[in-house]
Amino acid sequence: MRRALILQGALGPLTPLYPVFTGAGFARPDETDRVDVLPDLVERGDVDLLVVPLQGAAPATLDLIEDLLRQRDGLVAIGTAPEASSEVILAAFRRGFSEFLVSPAVPDDLSGALARLEAKWARAPKGGHITAVYSPAGGAGVTTIAVNLAHALSVRKPPGRVAVADLVVGLGDVATHLNLSPTYDLGELVRKLDRADSESLHSITVSVQEGFDALTGTDDIEIGEDVTADAVMRIMALMRSTYSYTVLDVEHTVSPRTIAALDGADRILLVFQVTVAGLRKAKRALAMFEQLEFAKEKIVLVANRVGTGDVMAWPDVAKALGRSVDFRLPNSFQLVADAQTRGVPIALAGMNSGSAQALIEAYQLLAIRIMGQKGFTPSAGASIVTTNGTGSGIGRLLSKLRK
Ligand SMILES: Nc1ncnc2c1ncn2[C@@H]1O[C@H](COP(=O)(O)OP(=O)(O)OP(=O)(O)O)[C@@H](O)[C@H]1O
Ligand SMILES: [Mg+2]
Repeated sequence: MRRALILQGALGPLTPLYPVFTGAGFARPDETDRVDVLPDLVERGDVDLLVVPLQGAAPATLDLIEDLLRQRDGLVAIGTAPEASSEVILAAFRRGFSEFLVSPAVPDDLSGALARLEAKWARAPKGGHITAVYSPAGGAGVTTIAVNLAHALSVRKPPGRVAVADLVVGLGDVATHLNLSPTYDLGELVRKLDRADSESLHSITVSVQEGFDALTGTDDIEIGEDVTADAVMRIMALMRSTYSYTVLDVEHTVSPRTIAALDGADRILLVFQVTVAGLRKAKRALAMFEQLEFAKEKIVLVANRVGTGDVMAWPDVAKALGRSVDFRLPNSFQLVADAQTRGVPIALAGMNSGSAQALIEAYQLLAIRIMGQKGFTPSAGASIVTTNGTGSGIGRLLSKLRK
């Protein structure tokens, strides 16, 4: 049974929240105003979760909690404040907090946060983490997000390298976005897949920046036919054993290889723009994910190019999609276009305007969300990824696709 310790007043009245804790597998939590007891409790393994009021917290208290979170594997913290200010949330995330709740906490919000923490705990250290970036519509910003998220992940210096992998056959853009002219690409990897190992993968990928590699897409349509669902699963297994984080640029088309990439990933960033067509497609993609029985926590809903021209207010967007949007990346056409023209990630384009900073910060937050606070989230070791295809989920996927 998990144990939570609540620092005085962090969640507001506890009585309505007790069933949420017990329902999520926690003992009935204790509340304390004694910060000095924390190191001992943590040392003895008597606490898995700290819930901390951020507003007015003494910097020394936050320093102590930050140290405990870094030292103790498996210890997590939820920060709370009466209002969700991005400054407070970002500062807490930087200190290693995993979740933020507005206080007094609403049972549903607490329940969602505990479920996400449980999913995080459940992950076994079986290799690197894979994020699939996907949009059912073309031109929504998938490649931009894949490249810039991978860069933001590498900037946080996880224990291993980070890769962006272009799974788009024929029209892949990762090489263009990063101004690469690679000798080898996905096609070469697929040709060698039977005998590929981490070493051969390294010889095929291109080093973009310190700790950041790219596997570029193939323009060879013939070899593209060999990029089957099974090949994608093998590639993902190889990426997991080679990189601590991989970000996949996934095709828009709903094909077996697309489904394999989405199914095998630990996280899916579902990218859309707030237009009527964009929302409609995002809703259909969510319905497809449900049909494929993807866990809800696996999907991160990302609105891209958010700006004044959006067709709906956020509550209406949430209503239309049946869930709220997790991330909003601001529209900043000039900045994104400049970075792409120069072939560098946005954060390296040397722009200091307010809008540039807002977009760079949004990518940092996205990286933090993917990584968790310790800078490394071991992957779930997605269950269907096998190296020989036997007993894998491919049959299940294909039959679902045909439904
Ligand atoms: N946050 C942003 N603000 C403004 N423009 C953006 C933003 N993100 C992406 N774009 C622009 O949107 C366009 C499409 O981006 P991108 O190529 O990343 O999309 P995609 O989904 O990969 O498209 P494709 O279907 O061609 O693969 C590009 O011109 C890019 O500069
Ligand atoms: Mg693209």
